[in-house]
Amino acid sequence: MPETPELIHRNFQSDIIIADSAAGLEEIRHRYFGRKGKINELFGQMRDLPPDQRPAMGKAINDLRAAMESEFQQRMQEVQDVEFRGIGIDPTLPGRKSYLGHLHPLTLVEAEIIDIFGHMGFVVESGPEAETVHYNFDLLNTPIWHPARDETDTIYLTEDVLLRTETSPVQVRVMELQDPPVRMIAPGRVYRNEKPDATHGAMFMQVEGLYVDVGVDMAELKGTLLEFYRHLFGPDTQIRFRPHYFPFTEPSAEVDVSCFLCNSRGCRVCKNTGWLEMGGSGMVDPAVFQGVGYDAEKYTGFAFGLGVERIAMLKFGIEDLRMFYENDLRLLRQF
Ligand code: DAH
Repeated sequence: MPETPELIHRNFQSDIIIADSAAGLEEIRHRYFGRKGKINELFGQMRDLPPDQRPAMGKAINDLRAAMESEFQQRMQEVQDVEFRGIGIDPTLPGRKSYLGHLHPLTLVEAEIIDIFGHMGFVVESGPEAETVHYNFDLLNTPIWHPARDETDTIYLTEDVLLRTETSPVQVRVMELQDPPVRMIAPGRVYRNEKPDATHGAMFMQVEGLYVDVGVDMAELKGTLLEFYRHLFGPDTQIRFRPHYFPFTEPSAEVDVSCFLCNSRGCRVCKNTGWLEMGGSGMVDPAVFQGVGYDAEKYTGFAFGLGVERIAMLKFGIEDLRMFYENDLRLLRQF
């Protein structure tokens, strides 16, 4: 004799009252509402009825299921409330919002730099942070007497291996492996034996750039950097070159951009000059080409280096470089 809907309902009600745990109720849910459960059994019985009685039976089962489901939910709530109270949870409190992580401001700026140069056809290259003296200094044409070689400026791991002081050695590593044309940037960390202050760190981030081909000239260097800084700081940005010395470029120039904070009128950040110092650049010295086996008569190239923290500080109005490395969530959560 198949169970009637009424009997099923009564058994169900006593089952859920007896169950005193969420797990027990889940088992009952399965027994009644599952694929092979009582409700589906009732639907199965409809096949034995004359067709004209089936719609009424179908409706009765649906009503029964709705009633049972709401009784079930209510009982589940009661049981869970008791369970939560037992382990000290107040289910009426609002939930705690989970905190989603995000990219660090320096990573965001680095990504923007990569994106802009990427649109100009520069590929991203990388090199080791523990670098040899050979790549960091010798192949970059750095004279033996240059102060950067000194232990007071550079962190040595052994006599021949140091923490790279700049991303420039990546230029050499790429040229050694590849014939021109070369058009690359190399973002990464660099290290100096320096006491950190508001504008200097013992570790910071640079982006190196290099373009070598037949007929590359200084106008292209300036045009490329102008284009870059206009994307970064706005379309009205101007740049200027100041003559400088770097061992691996000749001629060399330091690059200034017009101060976008005061529209070059002069402010605290640009020290009333209207210009912001951004980094170094120049035409690759033939001695560097010789070191990597490039024909210096045939090829010319330009190179540049810039500081990521400096750009991030200007873009975000952050006045102390150390803030990027203190992991203070009050700062980091603003990005
Ligand atoms: N490596 C230099 C520094 O850290 C920056 C630099 C200057 C990179 C001129 C270059 C360059 O590629 O051409 O001070």
